Formats: sequence, C-alpha cells, structure tokens
Amino acid sequence: MMMLGYIGIAVEDVAETGKFLQEIIGLELGGECGGVQAFHNDAGAPCVYLHEGPENDLTYMGWQVDSAESLEAVRDRVGANGIEIAPASETERAQRGVHEMFRLSDPDGLVNEIYYGPQVQSGRTFRSPRDIDGFVTGDKGLGHLALAVGNAEATSKFYRDVLGFDISDYINVPMGAEQLSIPFLHCNSRHHSLALVAMPHEKNLLHVMMEMRSMADVGKTLDIARRNAVPVSAELGCHSNDRVVSFYLDSPAGFEFEIGHGGVSIGPDWVVRQHDRIYIWGGQKPGEVAS
Ligand SMILES: [Fe+2]
Repeated sequence: MMMLGYIGIAVEDVAETGKFLQEIIGLELGGECGGVQAFHNDAGAPCVYLHEGPENDLTYMGWQVDSAESLEAVRDRVGANGIEIAPASETERAQRGVHEMFRLSDPDGLVNEIYYGPQVQSGRTFRSPRDIDGFVTGDKGLGHLALAVGNAEATSKFYRDVLGFDISDYINVPMGAEQLSIPFLHCNSRHHSLALVAMPHEKNLLHVMMEMRSMADVGKTLDIARRNAVPVSAELGCHSNDRVVSFYLDSPAGFEFEIGHGGVSIGPDWVVRQHDRIYIWGGQKPGEVAS
C-alpha cells in the first residue's frame, strides 16, 4: 500500500499562501521548523510543507509505504528499472519526520520521496481554523495532484513500472486539433492520486485536490472563497471518472486547489475505461454558460 502522505510546495509569498491554506481551505498550521511551515488536514503527520522559493510550484511528493519491507520492495523495483536512488541524510529524514526515506526523480524531473514511519503526535486532534467536518485522508492519502508533464505516457509508465501504480482510467478531450488523453493513476483505493496532463508547461503543478467529508463544507468553502474574492476557476461540477463533485479556486501562488466531495473508491473489481468528457454536469469556467 502506498499513499500520498505529503507534498512540498515553494512559493514566493509564504504568508499569503499560508493564510489561504488556513482561512480558505481550512488546513491547520502545525508548526514551523527551519523556516518551513507544516500544515495538516487530519490528526496525522503534516500533509503540506510550505517553503519560501521562487518556484510557485510543487517541489516534492512524499509517498508513504507501510513498513521497512515495503520500502525495500520499492527500492528493489526502482533498482531493477535502472533508476538512480538518492539516499536521505539523517537531517533530511528529521526534517520530514520520517523513519526512513529515499528519493528518485520521475521523467519530468519531479522529486518523489518514498518513506515509511511518519512521526505522529499521539492523541492530537485535527483543529481546522474553520468549522468543518474535516478531510477524507487515512489510507487514501492527502488527496490528489494534477501535473503538467512533457509526455504523459512516459510518466505514466514510470509510476506504473517503477512505483507500482495502476491506471484508473483515461479522459480523452480535444486540445486544439489534437486529442488529449489524460491518464489517471491510483496506488490505493482513492480513485487517483495523480492525473498527468501532457501540455507545454513551465510549472508542473496544475492543482492539488482535497476531499472534504461533507458536501456542505464544499459549499461553505465556495462561499468563503467568494466572500474573500478568491478567483473561482471552475464552478461546481461532477467529474465523469471519479464522480467527485468539486470546484476549483486559484491559490495566491498560481496553481489551483480543487475542493470536492463524494469520490468513488477503487476496489478489486475496478474496470479501466476511457471517458469522453471531463464533467457529467457543471464545471463551467468564469463567464461560460452550461452547454
Ligand atoms: Fe483533480
């Protein structure tokens, strides 16, 4: 079992993004260590490490496995695929609060940190600055990421062959004169932890998705975004593949957050399909009228 345990993002304005994460999204600021702010979306280990930097982008993804044996199995698989591994120093492991960890880069140069043994504060409860029921996490990880990549097939092959992900499905949509096929990949029961969009890009992170436990909280988040003049980049809509009802809002650093509810779970009888549209309903861009 693997799950997206944490992400590292580097932004120019840490104060502004930190405020957005707390007041709009509802994450809890857990603390600051070495200038890095750690945010939580449940009672466990941090889900977001916020660094100061010019990137305004994702800088690493932390994939948690269950045990030392699981970590060794991934290490063997990485080695068998001829991929270089960078070991983590004691200081780096301490910074992430993990027992053991190594790093490898995907074909787009994105850093993956594979680890086990996150440090948790026993008895701690999740205290959102907002009045919410919380987020769907646990074995499903913190949510999902949509990444802009050079070659979705090559990157998808990396996550399948090297890290053991499986394809959930594809969404095929026209992009100009071309047909774009977006692979969605899972590594646990969350419908997807990664969506890979092949497109020209300067930054990798398109959006971070977090799933709220209640639909009411999604609606309240939309209200809070509007009240605070946070740009909503896509209206509420239901996605064709994971059936999440969500909307998108712009973070101060440029990339988007998707806030949703009600995603389907992947089970042993899951069948891979290709979908011919992104939404079943909704999802309009600003100014767009429902078709
Ligand atoms: Fe998404």
